[in-house]
Amino acid sequence: MEILRVEHLQKVYQSRGGAAHLALDDVSFAVEAGTFLAVMGPSGSGKTTLLNLVAGLDRPTGGSVILADQRLDRLSEEQLARVRRRYLGFVFQDFHLLDPLTVEENVLLPLTLERAAREPEIARVREVLARLGLADKRDRFPFELSGGEQQRVAIARAIVHRPALLLADEPTGNLDSATSRIILETFADLHRADGATMLMVTHDPFAASYAERILMLKDGRLYAELLRGADDRPAFYQRIIDALSALEVAA
Ligand SMILES: Nc1ncnc2c1ncn2[C@@H]1O[C@H](COP(=O)(O)OP(=O)(O)OP(=O)(O)O)[C@@H](O)[C@H]1O
Ligand SMILES: [Mg+2]
Repeated sequence: MEILRVEHLQKVYQSRGGAAHLALDDVSFAVEAGTFLAVMGPSGSGKTTLLNLVAGLDRPTGGSVILADQRLDRLSEEQLARVRRRYLGFVFQDFHLLDPLTVEENVLLPLTLERAAREPEIARVREVLARLGLADKRDRFPFELSGGEQQRVAIARAIVHRPALLLADEPTGNLDSATSRIILETFADLHRADGATMLMVTHDPFAASYAERILMLKDGRLYAELLRGADDRPAFYQRIIDALSALEVAA
């Protein structure tokens, strides 16, 4: 089953001075359910722009995004917000937790946007917190957690409503390498054990090596795709490094 289709996506940013910047240029791809996809590319290549369009947070200047069989450009803002809440989960580089709320309250939020919290919602939150090794942290506040723990809370919040697609923008960008590894193992485990569909943006080849498929962006265009196939993670990592250095030679 296809979860996401991106067709001839284009994004032109118009700056106030009148200069136009083509941030995405004719990008097309599709994502099957259960895929762990990474999008790589140097700074400014259009990764966040792509993620924002897929998330319906911004509108394309050309082409379309079809998420769970719905063309996002045909939806009103209100319909878009509903599709976002129902089908998507988000993980950001800087966690985006709400400081005045406890861990449990933060993770409960996506379940209480449309209805008040009752037993089943609270049970679901506790199940997800336990799944992410945070059962004993549920009454803490974000400032009482390490960066890696905060990011695991953010992941719990992103998956608690069982989204069809989990989006992550540089989820390990603010973490040291040991903590990054824990977060990436968490994603890999959600993919393997729960069949989660994920689109992770990263410029880091180590992070990307956890995915099974990688799209590479450069200057707003897709220029390469790597499939993990039967490789183990270290072998895939090496292929990613080789592909990146081939790109640098070509540039
Ligand atoms: N709101 C905006 N207005 C104008 N230009 C923008 C806007 N947002 C992004 N851009 C430009 O579009 C291009 C792509 O930006 P984008 O944020 O998608 O890159 P990125 O690949 O996520 O980079 P990074 O790795 O640094 O996060 C850049 O040249 C950027 O300057
Ligand atoms: Mg970015």
